[in-house]
Amino acid sequence: METIRSIAIPPLTEDLERVLIDADTIQRRVNELANQINNDYKDIEEPLILVGVLKGSFIYLSDLCRKLTVPHVVDFIAVSSYGKSTVSSGNVRLLMDTRENLENHHVLIVEDILDTGYTLEYLVKNFKSRGTKSVETTVLLEKPERHLVPVDLKYVGFTVPDVWVVGYGLDFGEQYRTLPYIAEMKRK
Ligand code: PRP
Repeated sequence: METIRSIAIPPLTEDLERVLIDADTIQRRVNELANQINNDYKDIEEPLILVGVLKGSFIYLSDLCRKLTVPHVVDFIAVSSYGKSTVSSGNVRLLMDTRENLENHHVLIVEDILDTGYTLEYLVKNFKSRGTKSVETTVLLEKPERHLVPVDLKYVGFTVPDVWVVGYGLDFGEQYRTLPYIAEMKRK
C-alpha cells in the first residue's frame, strides 16, 4: 500500500475509475483557502460561524477549521434534496438546523460540492433572512457544467468535470466518504 506522510492510502477498488485529486493536493489547496479566509476575516469583532452542511462537508470542514487563525465557531446543518437518488429533486428540505443563533454574525457555509446549486441557493437565502452580518460560501469542489441556479461562490477548491466523484466526504450510497483523495466512480 502506498503511503503519503505516513497516511495509508487505500487502493482503488473495482468501482473507482481513477484518482482525480490526490490527498497532498487537497491539503495544499485547503491551506491556501484557509489563508485567504484568515486574511479576509482578520478584523471581525465576533467569531466567524462556520456552518458545515452534513454529511458531505465534515472532512473538508475539519481540515479547514484547524488551519484557521481567526476566532471561529463550528456548527452544522443538515438538508436533503437527493435522498437516495443520484439526481437532485431541486426541493431542499431542512433536516436539522444550526445550534448557534446566526443573527449579527458573519457566516461561512462550508460545502463539499456544488452541483446544481439548489442546496447553497436555499441556505444562502435562509441564512440572510436571519439577520446575519454576512453570508459567504466555500466549496471544495464545483461542477460548472451542472449548475442550474446561480450561486455566488467565494472560496472554491477545485472545479471537476461532470462525473460522479467520491472521497474526502463525498459518498456513493454512503460508501467511500473516508477516502483521503477524490476519485471518479466508474460509469455502470
Ligand atoms: C450533496 C452535497 C451537497 C449537495 C450539492 O449532498 O454534499 O450538499 O449534494 O448538490 P446541489 O448543488 O445539486 O444542491 P447530499 O444530498 O448528497 O447529502 P450528503 O452530503 O449527506 O452526501
